[in-house]
Amino acid sequence: MALPSSFLVEPISGNPKPTQVMSPAFRSVSGPSIVSVIRARSLRNIVKCGATANYQVENGIGSVVVPVLSAAGVAEELKVFQENKTSNQEYLAMYSSIVGGITTDPAAMVIPIDDHMVHRGHGVFDTAAIMDGHLYELDQHVDRFLRSASMAKIRLPFDRATIKSILIQTVAASNCTLGSLRYWLSAGPGDFYLSPAGCPQPALYAIVTQIRKPPEFKGTKVVTSSIPIKSPQFATMKNVNYLPNVLSKMEAEENGAFAAIWLDDEGYVAEGPNMNVGFVTKEREFIVPRFEKILSGCTIKRVLALAEKLVKEGRLTGISVRDVTVDEGKNADEMMLIGSGILVKPVLEWDDQIIGDGKEGPVAEAFFNFIMDDMKSGPSTVRIPVPY
Ligand SMILES: Cc1ncc(COP(=O)(O)O)c(C=O)c1O
Repeated sequence: MALPSSFLVEPISGNPKPTQVMSPAFRSVSGPSIVSVIRARSLRNIVKCGATANYQVENGIGSVVVPVLSAAGVAEELKVFQENKTSNQEYLAMYSSIVGGITTDPAAMVIPIDDHMVHRGHGVFDTAAIMDGHLYELDQHVDRFLRSASMAKIRLPFDRATIKSILIQTVAASNCTLGSLRYWLSAGPGDFYLSPAGCPQPALYAIVTQIRKPPEFKGTKVVTSSIPIKSPQFATMKNVNYLPNVLSKMEAEENGAFAAIWLDDEGYVAEGPNMNVGFVTKEREFIVPRFEKILSGCTIKRVLALAEKLVKEGRLTGISVRDVTVDEGKNADEMMLIGSGILVKPVLEWDDQIIGDGKEGPVAEAFFNFIMDDMKSGPSTVRIPVPY
């Protein structure tokens, strides 16, 4: 039976388009036909799909041929995938409790599809910045990580000290001095059921990514999010269900803004999709929304502690963690986004309303410098040297 002619299917990976190929296996049985081959990049893998192609065509499945790969074939394709990836984010090291070790080969940085985190979102995560060869606020982030795991009913594969040691060793293996450490705890692999009862062993994963330059102090624009905020039970734990956060960020980008701000069920200002918010009122008070319904940010907690200095210097009249109305927020002298990815980012415009004088404010700048200095030369309670 002759195989139909068609073009290759473009892979979803963003890799360069494969060229038309003719498998020697097809040639021998089917004459000079060209078949569609998904992801056929290495000749070895194309040859392997010949028998499958005949089976598929003869059984009316169609002309799109999916190669059946050996473990070595998969490894080869994953390598090509990484080599052709379009993102400029570099992955330097990954730890996985599944393999019980660290790899520095991005092609091997994979997790099992039957992990409850992958197919049911049953996982939690956290981060820590790497600056000048030190981990910033690792203990504070790990505390939140373990709190999130407990709220998500995820057992710990190791005790806290071991988790921390694994994270530090992963950064050491990466040789990264400026970057980001991200880590996940999941119910682990086992099966595809809703219940995690068949997942015998929780899993820990961690990855180190490189950052080219530290965040800049630069003003930005925000909008109010139309995506519903997560209920307090889920907003206060850092679990992997970030679809509302992703959609909120996309909504902001569609409107030429950096972030979309959530309001809570009572209409008070809540938080951004991956950052907290703070304001300086006309009375020079620094106000921050209460943490009962949002994520308790490690960065804003540190800012709250460091802000006392500005009160002592008379630059702020006070600090308050309380309900903040939209009206109060939009009429503030300064508004800022605060989080470990951006540090402190002034907001110059919210829903087309100019905030303050429309310029980066002095309090936001002081907070940004506090955090930068803290990352570079803060006390040992917030800075852990990486033993490279
Ligand atoms: C929803 C949400 N709120 C706030 C924050 C800020 O937290 P942190 O300062 O610990 O990065 C984050 C970032 O992780 C977040 O995802």
